[in-house]
Amino acid sequence: MSNRTFTMIKPDAMKNGHAGAILDRIIKEGFRIVSLKMTKLSKEKAGEFYAVHKERPFYGELVDFMSSGVIIAAILEKPNAVTAFRTLIGATNPAQAEAGTIRKLYATSVGENAIHGSDSDENAAIEGNFFFSGLEQF
Ligand code: RTP
Ligand code: MG
Repeated sequence: MSNRTFTMIKPDAMKNGHAGAILDRIIKEGFRIVSLKMTKLSKEKAGEFYAVHKERPFYGELVDFMSSGVIIAAILEKPNAVTAFRTLIGATNPAQAEAGTIRKLYATSVGENAIHGSDSDENAAIEGNFFFSGLEQF
């Protein structure tokens, strides 16, 4: 699984009309789409997905935001996918993100930052399997 990562285009980027540009950029950067769907997280599911942040002060806001609208979830493949994708999306806070990164281009704030990227191979596998069955992973 080390060549795979998991991403979500978050509700802000969906509402702001950036989904097409973001998917185009991901493909142009050489990521192969393994799985793709548009869906909406319930509060319960969003809380489960981000359970690692349960004790953080921003957890409630994060869960509300991530369940506030539709998202696009995807599994992506490329050599060194987790690191390559984190580089492509940029820092959590768009104010600190490198020029040209997806968050620099499309995020509005540290909380509403357009896109998610897995932070390890282990979490990429867990997160991909959270959204997609084996039959949906091509
Ligand atoms: P993500 O998991 O969504 O890819 O983001 P990340 O690794 O860059 O950042 P992480 O520390 O995992 O935080 C998860 C998400 O929580 C929101 N957040 N808000 N208000 C705040 O200070 C704050 N800090 C984090 C962001 O939506 C962040 O992406
Ligand atoms: Mg994270």
